[in-house]
Amino acid sequence: MNDCRGCLKVKQQTIFGVAKNSANFVQGSAMPNYDLYTIRKADSMNTLTKILTDKTSAAFEACGYSAELGAVTVSDRPDLCQFQCNGAFAGAKLYHKAPRMIASDVAAKLANDPDIAKAEAVGAGFLNIDLSDGFILNYVSDMLADPALGIPQAEKPETIVLDYGGPNVAKPLHIGHLRAAVIGEALKRLVRATGRTAIGDVHLGDWGLQIGLVIAELKERHPEWEIWQEGYDLSGFGGIGITAEELNEIYPFASKKSKEETPEGEAFKAKAKAVTAALQKGDPVYTALWKEIIRISCADVKRNYDTLNVSFDYWYGESDAEKYVPELIDRLNEKGLLYESEGAMVVDVAEEGDKITVPPVIVKKSDNSNIYATTDLATLIQRMKDWKPDEVWYVVDSRQSLHFTQVFRCAKKAGIVPESVKLEHLGFGTMNGADGKPYKTRDGGVMRLETLYGMVYDYAKGMVDKSTHSAEEDKADIARRVAVAAIKFGDLINHRAKDYVFDLDKFMAAEGKTGSFLLYTVARINSILKQNGTPDGFDSEGIYADSERAVLLKLALSGEAYAAAYREKAPNMVCEDAYKLADCFAKFYHDCHIANEQDAAKKRAWLNLCLAVRTVLERQLDVLGIETVELF
Ligand code: ARG
Repeated sequence: MNDCRGCLKVKQQTIFGVAKNSANFVQGSAMPNYDLYTIRKADSMNTLTKILTDKTSAAFEACGYSAELGAVTVSDRPDLCQFQCNGAFAGAKLYHKAPRMIASDVAAKLANDPDIAKAEAVGAGFLNIDLSDGFILNYVSDMLADPALGIPQAEKPETIVLDYGGPNVAKPLHIGHLRAAVIGEALKRLVRATGRTAIGDVHLGDWGLQIGLVIAELKERHPEWEIWQEGYDLSGFGGIGITAEELNEIYPFASKKSKEETPEGEAFKAKAKAVTAALQKGDPVYTALWKEIIRISCADVKRNYDTLNVSFDYWYGESDAEKYVPELIDRLNEKGLLYESEGAMVVDVAEEGDKITVPPVIVKKSDNSNIYATTDLATLIQRMKDWKPDEVWYVVDSRQSLHFTQVFRCAKKAGIVPESVKLEHLGFGTMNGADGKPYKTRDGGVMRLETLYGMVYDYAKGMVDKSTHSAEEDKADIARRVAVAAIKFGDLINHRAKDYVFDLDKFMAAEGKTGSFLLYTVARINSILKQNGTPDGFDSEGIYADSERAVLLKLALSGEAYAAAYREKAPNMVCEDAYKLADCFAKFYHDCHIANEQDAAKKRAWLNLCLAVRTVLERQLDVLGIETVELF
């Protein structure tokens, strides 16, 4: 058997496992809710293009040319060849020789390699290369035995903190939170799949005026509560008996009231501000109420995330950054960066060559309160201390890009984050309705995430109910998975920076680039294996059809797609690759009639292929945060 792995030294990787059920998380507690486990990996597989580049470079060198000319890429004309190398053209300039002659020399050398089925010089000097079937089969077999499934593993695994939640306490999740959750979860999984450490932090908005508004409103609605009385003994406080649904109703009501330009509206706003200020100074009664609001609200938020198969390792809130604010101010002062401007304390962050005006970042407002930027800066102190990350990624709406530019520049200037640490705002576009404007409810309001999910779930349930393949008691869970796959794939197939249109019929279609098509492919393979027997190893003796070879090659190239997706921080590349694999498989399935095949070796090879496709597809979907279904 060919050894198609690179010789890498044994390395030890630490990977964060799946988050435990963290229903009992405590706001502000440092309790990590993940399992730590360690994979010992003897080596990381080289990608096919790397292996071929090495072989071709050696061939260039053996012919007396520079090895650097040997870069091989996947062919853009799969009808002509599997891989190509265009190095002979650059060689022609170096060696004053016709590119075709150089390509012919190299092709003749490569042709001696038993791993290569075809190496030919064509046209003006292109080098077309095909791998031998034996090599492709061995590579796929190695991939399946590799715990990383052929996904290139980081040489020096970085630690990356991902900030991708940003829900606000006492406010329901709305569709604006959907993209952060879906993209952030996929990126976190992609980071882990490539052998790196990812730490997901929800960064709860738990410290702003919204809390003051809710408490002030509760005081107006429930003047009878004993907690408002002077000298109330908090040791007897047993909660406020309010549901998340009520909280979700109270916030918009209170917010609207505070914006009314009437004496009542203004008085209410002043009250809410006073409550917020007192809370931030540690008022015990407000603190007790605040904790209770967070407990109720977070349980609801977490339930929504659970439905979507989204989780976080840490449930830190903006309030947890409070204790780092004094250190932040000290650091800014030490560097002489903080100065007063119109009563506020600010730091200049404009840079020469800025194309837009980057105003100074406000660290303290004129009333001495902290704002969004203060919290993000203080949070960076916490993150650097606790996690020493190499990179911090913020998966937040693109419209916040100026805020992040200011925060990142200030953090670097103050030395809170060393120059070597990368801070990245991975902005995303909006989810639009058919009219091309941000998706709204019928009456023009912001749609709650739960409402959107409910719509998709009902659609999926209607489909699943018609199916005769699944047991009645499984249908609700299958419908949930189908709905989540539709929402997530419909989102992730678009590059994150782009806006996209939410189109339920399109997202649920059984064919095309949809979650349903991919779940359907996995379910179809499950039923093939059920009917024909699941192989217990990959022991194919040969490749019997072109469509089969195309699938094998697609499988063998899946590692490169992950590597590219990681480099670009673009889960859509994993979506595209998974779709192409499923599409290739559909062609193979159409061509090769597995159930009727009489030749035992052929049938075994095809069942092996089915199992291999399912394994790779399931991993791709898992990286996208999508759960599969057995049958539907
Ligand atoms: N809570 C914020 C919002 O609703 C999002 C927070 C994003 N993360 C951050 N570190 N700023 O807009």
